[in-house]
Amino acid sequence: MQEITLIRPDDWHLHLRDNQQMKAVVNDTARQFSRAIIMPNLVPPVTSCDQALAYRQRILTAIAPSNNFEPLMTLYLTDSLSIDEIKLAAESPFIHAAKLYPAGATTNSDAGVTHIDNIQQVLEAMQKHGLPLLVHGEATADNIDIFDREKVFIDNTLIKIRQQYPELRIVFEHITTSDAVDYVLSQDSNTAATITAHHLLINRNALFKGGMNPHHYCLPVVKREQHRLALLKAASQHPGKFFAGTDSAPHAQNAKESACGCAGIYSAHAAIELYAEAFEQAGDFSSFESFMSLAGPAFYKLPINKEKIKLTKQDWIMPDSLTFAEQTLIPFKAGQTISWTLSQ
Ligand code: DOR
Ligand code: ZN
Repeated sequence: MQEITLIRPDDWHLHLRDNQQMKAVVNDTARQFSRAIIMPNLVPPVTSCDQALAYRQRILTAIAPSNNFEPLMTLYLTDSLSIDEIKLAAESPFIHAAKLYPAGATTNSDAGVTHIDNIQQVLEAMQKHGLPLLVHGEATADNIDIFDREKVFIDNTLIKIRQQYPELRIVFEHITTSDAVDYVLSQDSNTAATITAHHLLINRNALFKGGMNPHHYCLPVVKREQHRLALLKAASQHPGKFFAGTDSAPHAQNAKESACGCAGIYSAHAAIELYAEAFEQAGDFSSFESFMSLAGPAFYKLPINKEKIKLTKQDWIMPDSLTFAEQTLIPFKAGQTISWTLSQ
């Protein structure tokens, strides 16, 4: 395969941060994608529709006129979010989901949900009003091994949510294990999952290759090779259930290369090319357009994009670093050869 033409994709899971940092990264995404689901884990988190709409305006203002891009906003669930706010969100044409962060699971999740029992009425309202639930699916207790957190979350929490709310649309975000793949495949069309490019391309060896590599640290943490292979198979062979969500999560170089390095991998500037690399490894591009451009809109009940893009088999070198407001950002695959080139 030397050339691929496909409908312009959307990114169904993206961190843009805010203010100067957001301005530094948003056009990387807007150049590639038509739309993106914008994560609400700002400081403070986006817990009201008013906040989400104000954030949306700040994003729109930062988009270059040459980029035609629509941010799809989300709310951050807390123990005390009201069902009125859920109803308002469901009625808004700009808010498309609410995100469940188990408290303490990841970056800026301290205000997240401490126990699923605290959001029963909210989940019921989301089911009733048709607002999708986006799940960071990791159990958080200290006695659970970090590599087992996704599976334990499925067993202890996700299965229960699904049983209680069979009509709730759930996106199991950034899945990392064969257990998550199997779970999603066992469910009806109300359950789908996003997969990142980095979870398709690296396994946990990448964290330690040649020494500690903080630029490969994200949450959920990358897993064993057998899990990466299961993700590749899911993305490339099960059209409809899985779609692209980069989880591109910028942190400044000094926050990554520190005694307590932040979780997050930045891939937005070359996300589509990176997904193409992964599908090439899978040896099968037949579901590429479904994964990148069709399954997401179908799940979110949004129109399919009209524009097309072209990928060409041509090498280029990922920059060693990017600017990030006053700081520096190290992109995924920094300094390495990428074998697909995106032409607009
Ligand atoms: O690696 C991650 N980074 N995982 C998350 O869940 C959050 C994200 C971030 O916001 O930095
Ligand atoms: Zn994320």
